Amino acid sequence: MKVSVFENKEEGSKDLALLLVNKIQEVLLKKSNCVISLATGSSPIILYKELIKILKFKRVSFKNIIIFNLDEFIGVDPNSINSYNYYINNHLLNHINISNENINLLSGNKKNIIEYCNSIETKIKKYGGIDIQILGIGRNGHIGFNEPGSKKNSLTRKVKISRDSISVLSKDFKNANNIPDEAITLGINTILSAKNVYLMAWGLNKAEIIKEALEGSIGVACPASFLQLHNDVEFYLDKNASSKLS
Ligand code: F6R
Repeated sequence: MKVSVFENKEEGSKDLALLLVNKIQEVLLKKSNCVISLATGSSPIILYKELIKILKFKRVSFKNIIIFNLDEFIGVDPNSINSYNYYINNHLLNHINISNENINLLSGNKKNIIEYCNSIETKIKKYGGIDIQILGIGRNGHIGFNEPGSKKNSLTRKVKISRDSISVLSKDFKNANNIPDEAITLGINTILSAKNVYLMAWGLNKAEIIKEALEGSIGVACPASFLQLHNDVEFYLDKNASSKLS
C-alpha cells in the first residue's frame, strides 16, 4: 500500500490527475484499451476537473478508454439529477471526447437485476478487467456501496444502503425524503481485481475510518480494509484525513 499525504484536497487531486493521465498512457502502450472504473461523491470532484484540464491541454485521446462506474441507485432515473449517471456525465464525460459505445454506466432501472449484474462482470472481463479503479470511502468504511458486512468475494450485485449512508446522502440529495435504500455496486472482489486502485479521502471526518482501513484488522466491519490485500493500491489523503495514522 502506498500512502501520499497532501496539504489539501486541491493539491492531492492535481497530483492524482497527472498520475492518472500518465498511467492511462502507460497502459495504452501495452494494450489496446484502458478500462477505468469511476467513483462519484464529493471526493473526486476536483480530480475530474483537473483531468478535463490536462486531457484538453495534452490532447490525450479517449478513443480507447472504456468507462465503468462503481455504483448506482436502484429506481432512480439515469437522467435524474440525483443519479450517479448524471454525476459522471456532468463532472467528466460531457467534457471529454469519448464515444458512447465505450461508456458502461450502471443502470438502476433493470428488471432482471441479477442477470444485469452478472452481465456487468462479464463485460468487465471481456474488456480484460479494470486497469484503473478510482475510489472514495464512506465514513463507515464503505467503498462503492459495499457497506459493512460486504464479503471479500462479493461481485456486482444489488445491495441495501445503510442508514448511516442514507443520512450522509440526505445532505446532497435533491428531495431528501426520497432517498432510495437500494443500489447496484461493483463488489469487493470486482474492485480488488482491478490492476491499480486509487482511493481519495479528504478532511477530518475521514481520519478515523482511514486509520481503520489502513491499520485496522481486515474484515467485513470495514470493507475498505480489504484493500490492504491489494498489491497496487494508493491512498491519496490530505493532512486531516491522515491525521490519525500512526
Ligand atoms: C460513490 C462511492 C462512495 C463514495 C463514498 C464517499 O460512487 O463509491 O463509496 O466514494 O460514499 O463519498 P464522498 O466522496 O462524498 O465523501
